[in-house]
Amino acid sequence: MIYSRIAGTGGYLPDKVLTNQDLEKLVDTTDQWITERTGIKKRHIAEENQTTCDLAEHAARNALAAAGLQANDIDMIIVATTTPNQVFPSTACLLQARLDIRGCPAFDVQAVCTGFVYALGIADKFIRSGSVKNALVIGAETMSRIVDWSDRGTCVLFGDGAGAVILQASAEEPGILSCHLHADGAYESLLTVPHGISNGYDKMIEGNAYIKMQGNEVFKMAVNTLGRIVDDTLAANNLKKTDIDWLVPHQANIRIITATAKKLKMSMEQVVVTVQEHGNTSAASVPLALNVAVLDGRIKRGDVVLLEAFGGGFTWGSALLKY
Ligand code: UT7
Repeated sequence: MIYSRIAGTGGYLPDKVLTNQDLEKLVDTTDQWITERTGIKKRHIAEENQTTCDLAEHAARNALAAAGLQANDIDMIIVATTTPNQVFPSTACLLQARLDIRGCPAFDVQAVCTGFVYALGIADKFIRSGSVKNALVIGAETMSRIVDWSDRGTCVLFGDGAGAVILQASAEEPGILSCHLHADGAYESLLTVPHGISNGYDKMIEGNAYIKMQGNEVFKMAVNTLGRIVDDTLAANNLKKTDIDWLVPHQANIRIITATAKKLKMSMEQVVVTVQEHGNTSAASVPLALNVAVLDGRIKRGDVVLLEAFGGGFTWGSALLKY
């Protein structure tokens, strides 16, 4: 039996930082409001000439080093992103060229904040089927490019960054125990960037393709849906809540994270929280948080870790793994 396991993790945040105090000067908001309602204290913003692929490359190189691999050991690249460099080639193909890898499949996945969990689920299937040995799986975003900096309801929430893992074939025990991927396209109106290539291209090139969100509606859906998927994931693996050592949630809002931890009856000590450092980095959020907890020694080999995310689409998903 072939399983997949995480062989190394990496993360990268751009140097430029935008604090809540900086945002007080841009829109009618306060550090107190942002902190109490979201838990966010700052976010990192890519420089004008810094692209999603640049962020992804940093995270990828960190993950390769952590796994003790060379770029040419990689035989599949998946980049989860909502903010690709350009229409095509995919960000994964651009990254492939940067890493000087030739021939292996490379493609992007678009599932907004759930993108990394989707990408991990896809890579896991390829590895289990025996066709891939080392997959580079990345969540990378420059959300700052699609934020309306005059909308206080959204501009305080998002940031830029990238997180990566090397998913490796393993003949021993798993690794990834199960992945659960879902979507319901009926909720477009609650969370959307309503313009793009085929719809409202003129608005996009004018720079008016921005995130529109009915925050409190999304909030309620996220809390309920994540509670359900946590139960489903445990049931699929015949595990109890107490079997989970670590929760690594999507970092959108501390109140959503706390509600999921409560549902799991987990102490916040067992939850990896990085939202205060970088806000909502969409597909980058879960691998960024995972990387932090691996690097600081909280998550150790053999620990049972639950990853979960919810985002535009709506999409949602989870991955249960033995690190
Ligand atoms: O990752 C993808 C999924 N996205 C999410 O998970 C985001 C989910 N939603 C949320 O995190 C929260 O709904 C928000 C943080 C976006 C908003 O928090 P909320 O507690 O749901 O606030 P609200 O939207 O109900 O707004 C409450 C009040 C409103 O004023 P009134 O109508 O009560 O007078 C807003 O206009 O807060 C006001 N408000 C602000 N005030 C100061 C909204 N944004 C701000 C702001 N600063 N930045």
